[in-house]
Amino acid sequence: MKILGIETSCDETAISIIEYFQDSKFKILAEQISSQIEVHQKYGGVVPEVAAREHMRNLPLVLDCALKQSGVSLSEIDRIAVTVGPGLKGCLLMGFHFAQALAFAQGIDLIPVNHIEGHLVAPFLDNTDLSFPFLSLIVSGGHTELLLANSFGDYKVLARTLDDAAGEAFDKSAHLLGIAYPGGPALAKLADQVDQSRFSLPAVMQESDDFSFSGLKTAIALLIRQQERNMDSEVKAELAFAIQDSIVSSLVSKLKKAILNSGVKSICLTGGVAANKYLRQKILEIDGSSVYFPSFSHCTDNASMIVHAGKFQVDNNLIPEQQSVVPRWPIERIREEQK
Ligand code: KG4
Ligand code: ZN
Repeated sequence: MKILGIETSCDETAISIIEYFQDSKFKILAEQISSQIEVHQKYGGVVPEVAAREHMRNLPLVLDCALKQSGVSLSEIDRIAVTVGPGLKGCLLMGFHFAQALAFAQGIDLIPVNHIEGHLVAPFLDNTDLSFPFLSLIVSGGHTELLLANSFGDYKVLARTLDDAAGEAFDKSAHLLGIAYPGGPALAKLADQVDQSRFSLPAVMQESDDFSFSGLKTAIALLIRQQERNMDSEVKAELAFAIQDSIVSSLVSKLKKAILNSGVKSICLTGGVAANKYLRQKILEIDGSSVYFPSFSHCTDNASMIVHAGKFQVDNNLIPEQQSVVPRWPIERIREEQK
């Protein structure tokens, strides 16, 4: 079976094609991403209308590249998996209508996919020894969720963010340090230049089960203002270190608590912030657990994770009934109405 996947929930236009074989083996035939970062950089964040228009322009080009890379023609595709939520409505609609038109023209079925479930299964793309149950820390620019995944489709949300997502906290802090959007990766690079900091930030929401990063942003803004006069490269790197350490500590402490409470020792780290090396290192240091990461290109938004979630749905007979896009679609409600 060959599945083509389309992802347009935010600012990446991505298309992948994966071929699945009898013995649950698979091969990624094509993986194409067109990033809009440069388009949105001058606005300091993603502008939804601009993003939607960019998707409309890019989709046919990205499809062409994916088909060329795979050596497969459209008529050989068996199904089309597409992100229908959560995400920016206009962006989701572009991907969904494009997928609908392709599926209609080819006379094949569409598989609606939840973007967060895509991130959840992304570690399976690069870890053949991974199996359920596991704890999944999904950290991206839009979501921060800690889940217990018992089996495909059976998830218990243990914690989620009350305000900013972890990636958003990285990006907003980077902005305060004068780093261009999306500043997360650049802030991390700066922080990794030093191995300690003279600055300390308050521990975030230690007592609560959920995550919250908005208070941290206020503390960071204050700290940066205090250091404005002596902001040399070393001070900047140490500030970045303190910020990274504070966000990572908050994520790791909740994860440790979840391991203790659930007794589950397999951990998956996924979503854009899973590309953060310091976070990976701190999670690898947790005693007695097995840790699974997606490759760097499968941490951030991509269409292979959408194809893979679609395949899990087909195999488990758990295809959601969505007929259109669902901009707000929490992972625990994917198949709520079907139960
Ligand atoms: O999953 P993703 O590509 O898109 C969303 O669904 O949001 O995640 C993007 C987020 C951005 O906030 C970006 O700054 C953050 O992931 N990110 C990082 C790193 N790489 C990406 N944050 C910290 N350290 C990194 N190395
Ligand atoms: Zn994402």
